[in-house]
Amino acid sequence: MNYVLENNQVVQRENVKTDFLDRAYVFGDGVYDVIGVYNGTPFKMEKHIARLENSADQIEINMPYNQVELKKKLLQLIEMNHLVTGFIYIQISRGVAPRTHHFPQIEVSPKLIAHTTETTRLPENHYTDGVKTMLVEDVRWLRCNIKSLNLLPNVLAKETAVKNNCFEAILHRGEMITEGSSSNVFVVKENKLYTHPADNYILNGITRQTVLEICEKNDIEVVEQAFNKDFLLTADEAFLSVTFLGIIPIRKVNETTIEIGEVTKKIQDELYKLTHKSGIASL
Ligand SMILES: Cc1ncc(COP(=O)(O)O)c(C=O)c1O
Repeated sequence: MNYVLENNQVVQRENVKTDFLDRAYVFGDGVYDVIGVYNGTPFKMEKHIARLENSADQIEINMPYNQVELKKKLLQLIEMNHLVTGFIYIQISRGVAPRTHHFPQIEVSPKLIAHTTETTRLPENHYTDGVKTMLVEDVRWLRCNIKSLNLLPNVLAKETAVKNNCFEAILHRGEMITEGSSSNVFVVKENKLYTHPADNYILNGITRQTVLEICEKNDIEVVEQAFNKDFLLTADEAFLSVTFLGIIPIRKVNETTIEIGEVTKKIQDELYKLTHKSGIASL
C-alpha cells in the first residue's frame, strides 16, 4: 500500500496527515466500510458506498463528496496501488475539533481516509472443513445497523473467540442469536435458510444481501427471522458470511458439531462464481 486517499486526494502514505484531535481518534466518531477486490475488480462497490453514506447520514456526517466521485477515486486508488486481491478500507470521521462530546460548534470538515490491503482469502480447509465458533453475549449498543468506528465490543468478542481457539464469536442477546463479531450468521434447517432480519440488532452485510439474492435465483427458501441458541445448536448446516472472505461453514459452536451440507456448498459456489468471474466488473 503506497497510496492513500485522503479527502479527495490520493497521496503517498507518508504524506497522510492525521491530527490527534480527529474525532475518529478521540471518540470513534465516524463510520467505515470494507470493499472486497478480486482480480483488480471491486465487488458490489456501489452497495458498499451507499451503505457508507447511509451510516454517515445516521450519525449526521455529510459525505465529503458524492458517491460517483468517491467511486472514481477508489478505482484510481486500486490502480495506483496495483491491488489485485484484497480489500479497500474507507472511513469518514466527523473531523478535527477541540474535544467536546457534543458535535463541534465550529465549522469542521469530515475527514475521509481510504487505503488498500493486498491479501489472500482463508486457507482452503476453512471453506471445506468449516471453522470453530463460540457463543459470546452481545453487549453492543442498539444501532448495530450503523457501521460505526466504535468496535470495542466486537474487538473484545473476537479476542475471546481467538483466545479459545475459535475463528469467530457468535453473538447472542439473551437467547437470541444476532450475528458474528464481524460476520452475519445463517442456519439451514429442513432446506430452509434462516438469518436474523436486517434491523437495528445487526449490520446488514453486503455479502448477506448477496446470499439472499443467490437464494432467490436458486429457489432456496429464506426466512429472515430471529432464532435462538438452541435453533443454532440443532442446525442441519450453518455458515458465516463476510466481505472478501465469502461463505465460511460453521463446524462447531462451543462443543456442538454441525454438518457441512449441500445448501452451504451451493451458496459458497454461487458466491465464488460471482466474485471471481474474471474481467467482468461486478461494480
Ligand atoms: C458486525 C458485522 N456484521 C456483519 C458483517 C458482514 O458484512 P459484509 O458482508 O458487508 O462484510 C460485518 C463485516 O465486517 C460486521 O462487522
